Parts: sequence; structure tokens; C-alpha cells
Amino acid sequence: MNNNNKFFITTPIYYASGKPHLGHAYTSIACDVLARWNRDIGKEVFFLTGTDEHGQKIVENAEKINKSPKEFVDLMVPQFKQLLTKLNISNDYFVRTTDEDHKVFVSKMLQKAFDNGDIYKGSYEGLYCVGCEKYVEEDDLLEGNICPDHKKECETVSEENYFFKLSKYEDKLLKFYEETDFLKPKSKAQETINRVKEGLRDISISRSKDKLEWGIELPFDSTHVTYVWFDALFNYMSALENNDKMDFWPCNVHMIGKDIKWFHEVYWPAFLMSVDMQMPKSVFAHGMILDENGHKMSKSLGNVIDPLKFSKKFGVEEFKYFLITGGSFGEDMNFSEKMFIEKVNNELNNDFGNLVSRVHAMTSKPFSEGMPEIGELEDVDKELISSISIYEEFNSLMQNLEYTKAFTVLWTAIRDTNAYVNKVSPWAESDEKRLGTIMNVLCSACIYFGKYTNCIIPSKTELLFKQFNVKNNNKFEVEFLPAGHKLGAKENLFERIKLEKPAVEVEKPREGFAKLNLKVGQIDEVSKHPDSDKLYIIQVNLGNEKRQIVSGLQTLYTLEQLENRKVIVITNLKPAKLGGYDSNGMILACEDENDCGLLSSELDVGSNLKVGSDVADNEKIINSKAFKKVEMFGDENGKVSFSGKEVSGVSVDKKIPGKVC
Ligand code: MSP
Repeated sequence: MNNNNKFFITTPIYYASGKPHLGHAYTSIACDVLARWNRDIGKEVFFLTGTDEHGQKIVENAEKINKSPKEFVDLMVPQFKQLLTKLNISNDYFVRTTDEDHKVFVSKMLQKAFDNGDIYKGSYEGLYCVGCEKYVEEDDLLEGNICPDHKKECETVSEENYFFKLSKYEDKLLKFYEETDFLKPKSKAQETINRVKEGLRDISISRSKDKLEWGIELPFDSTHVTYVWFDALFNYMSALENNDKMDFWPCNVHMIGKDIKWFHEVYWPAFLMSVDMQMPKSVFAHGMILDENGHKMSKSLGNVIDPLKFSKKFGVEEFKYFLITGGSFGEDMNFSEKMFIEKVNNELNNDFGNLVSRVHAMTSKPFSEGMPEIGELEDVDKELISSISIYEEFNSLMQNLEYTKAFTVLWTAIRDTNAYVNKVSPWAESDEKRLGTIMNVLCSACIYFGKYTNCIIPSKTELLFKQFNVKNNNKFEVEFLPAGHKLGAKENLFERIKLEKPAVEVEKPREGFAKLNLKVGQIDEVSKHPDSDKLYIIQVNLGNEKRQIVSGLQTLYTLEQLENRKVIVITNLKPAKLGGYDSNGMILACEDENDCGLLSSELDVGSNLKVGSDVADNEKIINSKAFKKVEMFGDENGKVSFSGKEVSGVSVDKKIPGKVC
């Protein structure tokens, strides 16, 4: 039984069917930060990660390169391990679902669930997506039974399967959610609860060996192998048992991406209930990393970021810091080189690195022979110490996985310390005793901050401790340096990163086609063009930026009608000059021969619009040279559709049926 001093955290096990990518790096880093933090505050931590190695996709990918499935995964797994090493991830164990002891454990669990009457044989006919490794409902697919995530046609599968009685656990699961903090973040819990309330159907947990051999054999029927999720989820326990660490169960945090919530929040606790195991304490579903325009990263969009290359170029710890603090952890996060560089330069280099380097320089020079005895603290010193004493708040935010908030609290303390430096102006202090006290407060504050940053930028923190010539004792209080203490040599923590590319990059059409990026904006200001009776000069707020757009709306809307109006803007057009004024984007409207109505939306300013089933579809439809082929129409009810699919959250003012332009 996991006592309070034990902390067990897991990443999902990664599909070994392809190369490791940014998503894998993200989940691993998100776990690493909390594992390190908990070690630092004195907990005994077991941090587990690994690879998910069974299933059809592995078989298919292995065939492509003429390998057996086992040979194939043996080639892939070192790449995942290498990612962990390069990112300095502090996992305690790496589990593989092809490990013999894992297979034995899963087999035991299958037998137990079977003996408890939760597994039965039935026939299944339905669609299977190899990419998701799951059975799918037709309603969730695009035309032609195409999986919206993998853009591949799903296979019709008709076979005798073993089923798990998920339906039996509906009430138990709902009760469990209500009584515990299992579903995290809390803001997303209701989604799962509502779906479970809609009813649970039993799930197929096996495939017949004539269809798929690459899996763990059912102990009660050797002609079947278990379907990947029953196998994969039990890694969280098999790894403990096989390491003699069952006293770490129940798990504290299963960190996952929101795309695999259902399996972890519904299947997993139900499987555990079936085999009479204790429930994990929480599953935390983080958001996805999207590109700067809010698009999923995918090879076909050409916006993929390779975690190894990126961190090699800009620094592993800078990369980690941005992933953890660059969005609102738990929500989807936009990732771009420009956002990364700005944040790292401002926060790591300016706020933190410069503070440490200034304090070191201002101390080592006058006190090269050692620190003087600390004098009496003045109010200004006491105020600083009290404002930077953040342990309770920081720890509770971290344990609640509110990383972004936790680091905001820490950075506020760092900024307060910079403000203190300016206030007490050590460079102008002529009283040596007072200067000694000020510099002692400042050195101690820097060392204190090192104890917090150790969980995210540990090698930088090591340099920090080294230059102040102290060891990290993990005492989260401001401790003054003793009289006579000598600082170590100066170390540079961060380099300022130069922005090589232009600040705003306009998407270039590829092969004659471009993506269409639509955003909800709000008109902040409108004025008439001085020399035109058609054009308005409009300032639009797009959430994270403001843009000037020149638009021919004068004959259609008055200034008052436009002010504060929400509009839909195409954000990735090349900036142009209209009537001599810069115009950066296009406001969408729907027109017929006589009139024109603006498109609007209920969604928040700054929201990216998903058009059709996936933004990637736009590529096929939009001719970038002139937006002549925009197949977007408004109807008489004010609804807008794109390529036959309704665009949710968008409506046409004046309800003019016609083409969007
Ligand atoms: N094998 C299953 C998990 C089984 S756990 C018992 C799986 N593997 S995965 O390789 O596809 O994904 C692993 C993790 O990477 C998931 O948490 C997923 O959410 C995460 N990510 C994949 N792409 C991502 C982003 N673009 N952004 C953030 N995380 C994403 O699912």
C-alpha cells in the first residue's frame, strides 16, 4: 500500500510503431518535472515509462521493412530510450509490453477477470482503425469510413471475440468519480462523467489469432490474443510487481494526453475493479501541442517539430521550461520557435539568468575573501524574504499539476527580487556592513530559487549552486550564507537566443495549395479611408495580436455597426496594401448579387476555427492564388458550411445565402 511518502507517476507507454515525436517528449517532460519535484521534497518516487509493442500497426510496419514484429520493436525501442536520455528524463524503469514478466502478469489479470465472470465470448462486427488500435463507431468517421485522426479507411472486422463487461461497471465508475479526485484536471471531468452516463457498452478485448497473432495469448483460449489496451494498461502494475515495488500502488498520477482519456478514465478503473485491485489516485489529461496557428502537428502539414533536433539547437532545459510553462498546462498549447525564443529570453535569460549573474558579480568582487557577518535585516529585506517564501503555494500547485501557475508564482518571486536589487541599489551602497547584508540576502534568494528550478532545469541549477559554492540541501527556506563563505567562479546559465527569422511568417502555398487559417477577431476601431468611399481601415483584435485590415464595407455597414463586432478573419494571407494602407488579413462575408453579410461567431476572440472535419482538408479545397475556389457557403438560416460540412460556431449576419468571400 502506497503510504504518503511514496509517489508513483507514469507516462503512457508509447507506441513503438513509429519514431518518438514531440508529443512523447511532452508527456515525458510533464512527468519528469513532478517526479523530480517530489524527490526534492523528500518523497520516495517511482517514475515509470515504456513502450506499447503489440497490435496490428506494429505488424504492418514490420512487414514493410521485412522484419518480424519483435525485430521491428527491438529496432524502435532504443530510439525511445535515446529520447529519454537526451532529454535527461529521470525515469526509474522502462517497461516493454513484450517483456516476458509483463506478459505473465497480463495473463494472470485476464484469468482473474475471466474467473470473476467479466469476460465472455461474443461475436463482433464493426469497424477497426489500425492507427487508433481500436474499434470505432461509424458516426465518428468521415465519409468513406475514414478515421479523422489517421486519414485512413477503417477496416470492417467480423469475428468471434471475447468481450469485457464494461456495462456492468457504469454505476460503480460514476460513484468512484464522485467520491474521489480521480479525474483531473477537474475542469475536464464532466466530459467523461457525461459520456459514461450515456451508457457503456461491453468492449471487445481480443482478436482471433487467424486475424492477428502479435499479442498476448488469452490464458483461457489459446486461439485468441488480447487487444492492445488490456495489455497496455496493465503495464502500470506489471512494472511494479516485476520490480518488487507493489508498495507504490496505488499510482498517484497517470499522466496522459487527452486523446487517450477514455481508456484511462473508463476502461482502466473498470479493469481494476474487475480484478479487485485498488484504484489509482488520479489520471491527469494534458492538452495537445499545436502549431502557432492552432493546427495539429502532422507530417502532411509540414509543421512537425523534432524534439531531439529542437532541443539540440536551443538547449534541453530551455525546451523543457517552455513546454511546461509556455501554455496553460492541461490545455492545448501552441508551439512555435518565435514563442519559444521570446519566453526563454525574457524569463530564463533576463529575469533569472541575469539576476544570478548580477548578484554573483556584485558579491564576488567586494567579498572575494569571504562573506561578512550578516547585519540586522531592514524592513525592505524582510519584505522581500516574506514575498519570496512560496513553498506552500508552489508545492500545492505542483501537486495539483497546475505547473503554469506554480512557475508564475516562482517567477513573480524572481521578479520581486530583481525589483529589490533596483530598490536597494547595491552599487550605490557605501556602508560595507549594509552591503554585506544586502548581498547575503540576494545570494540566499538565488540559492533558494535554485531549489525550486531544480525540478525543471536541473543542470542549470547545478551551475547555480556551484557558483555560489553551496550544495542543494532541499530545505525550502531562505538560508543565509555563513560569515567567511566564499563564492565559486562565475558560471553562465543561459545564452540569449537570437531570433533568426522574421517575426511573422506568412504561410507559403505548397504545390499551389495553401491552408486556410480562420480566427475569431473583434473590431477594436474603424475609420473611413480618407480617399475612398468604399474602404474602411479596421483594427482587429485576434486575441494574441492586433492587425490592421482594409476592407470594402463602407456601403454595407456604418462605423457604429462595425465597432466591437466579432468577425472571422483569414489570418494567413500575404500582407497587402489597399488604398495605400497596410492590410494584413481578410474579414469574411457572405454575398449574393445585391448584398453582403459579415460572418460572425459566438466563440471567444482568438479562437481558431476548425473548418470541415479537419483543417488539413482545406489544403485540397483552397486555391491560394485567389480565393476563388473557397467552397464556403452561407444559407438562409445564417449557417455556414464548408465543403458540405457545417462550420460550427459561425453564422452569417443578415442571413444572406451565398458564397463566402
Ligand atoms: N500506446 C498508447 C498509450 C497506452 S498507455 C497504457 C498511446 N501511445 S502514443 O504513442 O500514441 O501516445 C503517447 C502519448 O503522447 C499520449 O499521452 C499522447 O497524448 C501524447 N501525444 C501524442 N501527440 C501529442 C501532441 N501533439 N501533443 C501532446 N501530446 C501528444 O497512445
